[in-house]
Amino acid sequence: MDTKIWVVNNFDEQLESNPQIIEAAKLLSNNEVVAFPTETVYGLGANASSDEAVAKIFEAKGRPSDNPLIVHIAHSEQLTNIAVDIPEFVDVLIKEFWPGPLTLVLKKKNGAVGEKVTAGLETIAVRMPDHPIALALIKVANLPLAAPSANLSGKPSPTVAKHVITDLNGRISAIIDGGSTGVGLESTVLDCTADIPVILRPGGVTKEQLEAVIGQVSIDHSLFEEGQAPKSPGMKYTHYAPKSPLTVVFGSPQFLQRLVDKQKMAGLRVGVLATEETKDSYQADTTLVCGLRADLPSVASQLYDVLRTFDEKSVDIIYSESFPQDGVGQAIMNRLLKAAGNEVIHE
Ligand code: TXA
Ligand code: MG
Repeated sequence: MDTKIWVVNNFDEQLESNPQIIEAAKLLSNNEVVAFPTETVYGLGANASSDEAVAKIFEAKGRPSDNPLIVHIAHSEQLTNIAVDIPEFVDVLIKEFWPGPLTLVLKKKNGAVGEKVTAGLETIAVRMPDHPIALALIKVANLPLAAPSANLSGKPSPTVAKHVITDLNGRISAIIDGGSTGVGLESTVLDCTADIPVILRPGGVTKEQLEAVIGQVSIDHSLFEEGQAPKSPGMKYTHYAPKSPLTVVFGSPQFLQRLVDKQKMAGLRVGVLATEETKDSYQADTTLVCGLRADLPSVASQLYDVLRTFDEKSVDIIYSESFPQDGVGQAIMNRLLKAAGNEVIHE
């Protein structure tokens, strides 16, 4: 398949009449799949009402069919077409966080979207992305768009169009290149079907931010416990892993450097995931800087690109610094530990 690649300017005031957005919307109406930028990561969109279109997403990504997709909308009115029994606190969340990196899991309206989107579940995950291209595309196509991250299953999510091209060129109809995404980690997935909402996947909106507007929110504890099945189907899969084995180190830069020295003595080529503040503490074969420790959103925004860049360096083993687990640090550590397959070393 010949994949069309279009560069579109996010700041174009007339996005809804942009010829490339119109052509992309036409492809979506014809049940083809198109990758587009959101504020979190690039998504791979398809008409959520068509099982034929949604099947193409699973095929292009190599995604297991029991892992449901998020439906993306551009107006809150679209929500009542696909979800029912929406609790009152959800209105508060929508006012505060939409458009934005918060996905709400709600009771699905029967027959509203194809069966494949929700992988047979009775709930549906919905979000309104905060990105001008994503919003224009959904409005022009006039369809709710099912969209997972636009990576091959198991790889880090794409934060620039180059990542999408690497993974999916030749496998999908088109890619809209709108530059880098911003947040850099996926949306927070919040199950709103229980009395106390539960975070199924930490992400761009933090637990603290949610609690500040609706009070108590819990977090799916199986995310942190070995041998427990997470409530969100997608969280059970290995993800985000670079090709070389990654270990997360809880300790000082001096301790991490001693680990590097040991591996180098054994003849291995070693990579280190460091930060602006600590990069000069390491003598490794490749040291990559992932943002500023003092500014965790900058770490989130660069993490996937750094994990992918290690694949271009010839290292045998990677050590990563760890991060505080509050605020956006919760999502950073969740992704980093998954990328490491939970391999950790404590000082
Ligand atoms: O930021 C994001 O959320 C990005 C952009 C493209 O919007 N999308 C994304 O989609 O990360 P994906 O498919 O890579 O991850 C969706 C997650 C998976 O962990 C999936 O299992 C979970 O949401 N999910 C979807 N529907 C669900 C449901 N009904 N109940 C529980 N979890 C659900
Ligand atoms: Mg994904």
